[in-house]
Amino acid sequence: MTYDVQRVREDFPILRQTVHGRPLVYLDNAATAQKPQSVIDTLVRYYTEENANIHRGVHLLSQRATQEYEDARAKVQRFLNAASTEEIVFVRGATEGINLVAQTYGRRHVGPGDEVVISAMEHHSNIVPWQMLCEEKGARLRVVPINDDGEILLDEYEKLLGPKTKFVSLVHVSNALGTINPVGEMIEMAHRRGVPVLVDGAQSVPHLGVDVRALDCDFFVFSGHKLYGPTGIGVLYGKRALLKAMPPWQGGGDMISSVTFEKTTYNTLPYKFEAGTPNIAGGIGLGAAIDYVNGLGVDAIAAHEHELLEYGTRELSKVPGLRLIGTARHKAGVLSFVLEGVHPHDIGTILDEEGVAIRTGHHCVQPVMQRFGIPATARASLGCYNTREEIDALTRALDRVAEVFG
Ligand code: ALA
Repeated sequence: MTYDVQRVREDFPILRQTVHGRPLVYLDNAATAQKPQSVIDTLVRYYTEENANIHRGVHLLSQRATQEYEDARAKVQRFLNAASTEEIVFVRGATEGINLVAQTYGRRHVGPGDEVVISAMEHHSNIVPWQMLCEEKGARLRVVPINDDGEILLDEYEKLLGPKTKFVSLVHVSNALGTINPVGEMIEMAHRRGVPVLVDGAQSVPHLGVDVRALDCDFFVFSGHKLYGPTGIGVLYGKRALLKAMPPWQGGGDMISSVTFEKTTYNTLPYKFEAGTPNIAGGIGLGAAIDYVNGLGVDAIAAHEHELLEYGTRELSKVPGLRLIGTARHKAGVLSFVLEGVHPHDIGTILDEEGVAIRTGHHCVQPVMQRFGIPATARASLGCYNTREEIDALTRALDRVAEVFG
């Protein structure tokens, strides 16, 4: 079946509006994706008909809400091909998932003189939690360098893995460069030395099919809002044996089995890691988003975005003075660029006047900007509903930037 992008666009009511009198061209999907009507309807229906706390009530609404929330967990499990729902922990987002692992697994296993390995293209959320851990423990953060195209140097990675390495944490797809990292191979290399690996899938899950068992990653995190779901909900996948051996993170209701003032025993997986009333609507909304993505087909979305990426790369390369930042051989739909003589924020402002929404700035990856010797980039990032016409609108708006600054 051919991918009918116009039909897909009809599912997203927000795309029908105009911005500054121009049709909205939304190219900021790496920051957050828009929501299809089915996700919006699910949230409205939940709050209109089902709202109740979960895992606590014998009344009908509570049972319904619990069932839907747990159904959503099962959808996530199938989506990632995890072995069991025990391995799916709902968190606020990828950031919280990484912090959870650093503060539980990390605090228990990383000690003075040990090393944690990350790459030079990590988002701040996959740098700072490890830095905090290393500071606390007297451990050392080691960083795998990247080349000028924005690709990880695998031989340098190999050299960094040693007897002191206790953990590796890697981004699957770079939010600023679009690079798709060979995480499968990198996990294998770490496992040969008995080192567990976390994969930050915030930018991969919406654009590639992810199979955590095929990757054999030990932990995997992603955020719902980049996958056409609500904000404030995300997932930590962890291998059962690892999660089981880990201490809990936050204490509170639902994560316990019994409490006395003398001693508390903890709940079974995955609830041991889910203290307090969770984002129930968010979890159910994420389930609806997964249904939506499955309906389109992850592979079909990936193929559509790849075709657009190639078109966008060709078209942007024709713009005088434009330099693409991130030219890896394997890329997802991210087009980061700088324009000679124009600050990215000015590009963003003029594009906005033309109805084109992109992100400008350091994209929460300041070390990547330092690596490329630039303060910021302008970034167009693609989603399932973007079109060639929107890429054309972007390049036309860039002509306007040239007129203003020419
Ligand atoms: N990390 C998100 C981005 O790249 C917010 O824009």
